[in-house]
Amino acid sequence: MIRLKDVSAGYKKNPVLTHLTLEIEEGRFAGIVGPTGTGKTTLLKTILGSHKVHGGEVMVMGKPVRSLTPGSIGYVPQLETVDWTFPVTVEQVIMMGLFAQRTYWPWPSRKEKIQVHALAEKLGVDQCLHHHIRDISGGQQQRVFLARALISNPRLLVLDEPTSGVDIKTQHDVLHLLQSLNKEGITILITTHDLNAVASHLPWVICFNKTVIAQGKPDDVFTEEILGKTYGGDLAIIRHDGHLLIAHNAKNKHNH
Ligand SMILES: Nc1ncnc2c1ncn2[C@@H]1O[C@H](COP(=O)(O)OP(=O)(O)OP(=O)(O)O)[C@@H](O)[C@H]1O
Ligand SMILES: [Mg+2]
Repeated sequence: MIRLKDVSAGYKKNPVLTHLTLEIEEGRFAGIVGPTGTGKTTLLKTILGSHKVHGGEVMVMGKPVRSLTPGSIGYVPQLETVDWTFPVTVEQVIMMGLFAQRTYWPWPSRKEKIQVHALAEKLGVDQCLHHHIRDISGGQQQRVFLARALISNPRLLVLDEPTSGVDIKTQHDVLHLLQSLNKEGITILITTHDLNAVASHLPWVICFNKTVIAQGKPDDVFTEEILGKTYGGDLAIIRHDGHLLIAHNAKNKHNH
């Protein structure tokens, strides 16, 4: 589904990704974890083709990413980066996912309106279609942006920190929703800081710190060695009753 070969990308004087090689198979539901500022968002934008690379090759669905038709990849940005002053309703936000694909008549057809309403119902936001996007809860906003990404029926869905800023119940709801979309056949890639949510909900994890440290099943990848390499500090791994828990090792004398 995704193949990055020898990719270098970054910002002026700040090379974030250097000679990165990464493959993600079709059908995966994968979480990228790693410390803040180590290039996770940059990596997602590179995969989306919205961030220009300095070198290497970015292939998605077997094609150079920049040659894909708009809407082929669904994207849910980090909500903190959204400008909430923009005067739009929930319905209009979801519609935007349709407009990205076309350059002609900007108004939705009857059929498209029905499609938007059906998807809003599926994601549980049909009650707030006419509300201003700012006036709904964080969990609802997350679902509205998910609907905007899904309206074009993408085979790949990319979400930047979909579990941040919402309560633990909403986090689980979002992850369950993504799980069922993955079962419908959509490949899903998310970033998150919640290692425990990854351990309990995601079948696949990618440890990232400017480069790929390891990828695999959480059970295989979440070892003290790999997490140490990723985060640089001491993390304690607790296995209990078939569950995997990750905690900061506060007892370590080097960690205050
Ligand atoms: N628009 C930008 N211009 C210049 N530098 C940037 C820009 N966006 C990000 N950076 C820098 O690139 C590096 C990687 O940033 P990136 O946003 O990819 O990290 P991240 O892993 O997503 O972090 P977080 O976990 O905090 O979201 C950081 O050093 C950051 O300061
Ligand atoms: Mg980020």
